[in-house]
Amino acid sequence: MNRIYLDYSATTPPDPQVIDATVAALGSSFGNASSVHSFGREARSILEQSRDRIAQWISARSDEVFFTSGGTEADNHAIKGIALAGARAGKNEIITSVVEHHAVLHSVESLRKSGFDVKLLPVDGSGRVNPDDVRKAISPKTALVSLMLANNEVGSINRIEEIAAIARVAGVPMHSDTVQAMGKIRVDVNKLGLDALSIAAHKFYGPKGIGAIYIRKGTRIEPFMEGGSQESNRRAGTENVPLAAGFAKAAELAEARLDQDYRRIFGLREKLKSRLTAEFKGLLFNGHETECLPHILSVSFDSSVTPLDGDAIIMGLDLEGVAVTSGSACTSGSLQASHVLLAMGRDERTARATIRFSIGRLTTDEEINLAADALKKVVERVAKAGTGH
Ligand SMILES: Cc1ncc(COP(=O)(O)O)c(C=O)c1O
Repeated sequence: MNRIYLDYSATTPPDPQVIDATVAALGSSFGNASSVHSFGREARSILEQSRDRIAQWISARSDEVFFTSGGTEADNHAIKGIALAGARAGKNEIITSVVEHHAVLHSVESLRKSGFDVKLLPVDGSGRVNPDDVRKAISPKTALVSLMLANNEVGSINRIEEIAAIARVAGVPMHSDTVQAMGKIRVDVNKLGLDALSIAAHKFYGPKGIGAIYIRKGTRIEPFMEGGSQESNRRAGTENVPLAAGFAKAAELAEARLDQDYRRIFGLREKLKSRLTAEFKGLLFNGHETECLPHILSVSFDSSVTPLDGDAIIMGLDLEGVAVTSGSACTSGSLQASHVLLAMGRDERTARATIRFSIGRLTTDEEINLAADALKKVVERVAKAGTGH
């Protein structure tokens, strides 16, 4: 059976050029980038070239980009690091939203337990934060605003430029979890007006286990990992040069292919959307109609029209060789309805009957048709078996 991968939001297959760049650095440049001898200098040179490449991609300076183990670490570092620095200046309040990734939500929850006030902003029916709510929530006590650029479950894009401008006027640092948006839409730290952002390389055909945090010069932030003086004392530990080389190659490709990828992937999404609209009654599309990432299509079966068990559909699709998820990969497997869909106003049963298709560079027209055929077959089977509850 030919398997069809439609879970590119969870992760992407590394590009062959990324694998080549990673393996080349793994084999030949094994020196410790902090060593002063020639082996170390060679590794350092690859590391710094990679940093330059990534900085250039987001219009940052090289000394504002720090490697991390991925998106989760970047989110933790930005939120806890900026909040703790704020606390030193008497600020103990954090503003974020109910639909953030758990890397953000759990970071603010741990700060809440240590005495911070956390303001969780609501979202509208499309999953976006209203900039006016940010304006109203900011107070002289606010240490940080952290809001995602685009949602990983439904793909809606927040009005970050506007929100960051509000934070800037109030003198509050602004972080954005840009993990899902990188490589799909242009991310420019200056245009967006961000003080910090988070990146994970595996979301755009790079290796897993590496990402970055951008921190604008002058932003007050505590170090994340203590030990040696690597990453300008912000993140101690021997640097992972091969993964950094793969990451930089992925960023280079993502930048070069941005328009081409956008057009093709968005076209496939539109095709899937019209096929599903034609096949199913009572299908609800989640997220913003136009302000959305090109690769995510989240659909729910309206419980008042067709009560269906989402997990049975996902498992049925897997048996048909189609890999999709019901929400973020981090919550798949759990029976809980997605916090994002509930916050957007979906009822619990509808939220649980949700499928997130996410399309990527390797997806073909034929795969889109086969996936739609498979969904029709599985939904009929699940409805007949009466697993809708
Ligand atoms: C929006 C968002 N933030 C953070 C993360 C966490 O990234 P990682 O799993 O690479 O640490 C993800 C991954 O799904 C994500 O989609």
